[in-house]
Amino acid sequence: MTKAIRSGLVALAIGIGVGAAWVGPAQAGDDSPPAWKKWMKENVVPAKAAGDFKKLEVLLGKIAAANPDDKAFPKWQEFCDQGIAASKKGDKDALNKSCTACHNAYRKVFREKYRDAPPPK
Ligand code: HEC
Repeated sequence: MTKAIRSGLVALAIGIGVGAAWVGPAQAGDDSPPAWKKWMKENVVPAKAAGDFKKLEVLLGKIAAANPDDKAFPKWQEFCDQGIAASKKGDKDALNKSCTACHNAYRKVFREKYRDAPPPK
């Protein structure tokens, strides 16, 4: 191996190392369980973008039914009910609050311990 190639490889290795270090924290926020992420992105996100409150009402009912553990997530139903009430009124701000309330309260534990729970259906 020539010296030039070797130093090139070392630089590359360092580059990858630094890159990985950078990607780490940025991706920590995207540790979403794939099945849940897929379901939310294919169902809830488009309905919300389209302002389809009738559909959101139904979807929030499905999320409510998919609570994997009442004891770990005692307010799960309440957050969904808030979202359903907001959808009935067509109140986008209140709806957003219900999404965020559940995510903020439960995302961490969910990602740690319930990643394999079946998504809503
Ligand atoms: C009762 C709880 C609950 C409610 C209400 C809820 N979600 Fe979620 N959502 C989850 C869980 C659990 C996950 C999977 C864990 C995670 O956040 O990575 C998730 C994941 C997501 C994701 C994929 C992860 C991400 O952040 O990219 C999106 C997008 C999402 N939800 C959108 C919404 C929207 C929009 C609403 C409101 C209309 C909503 N959710 C309401 C529980 C909820």
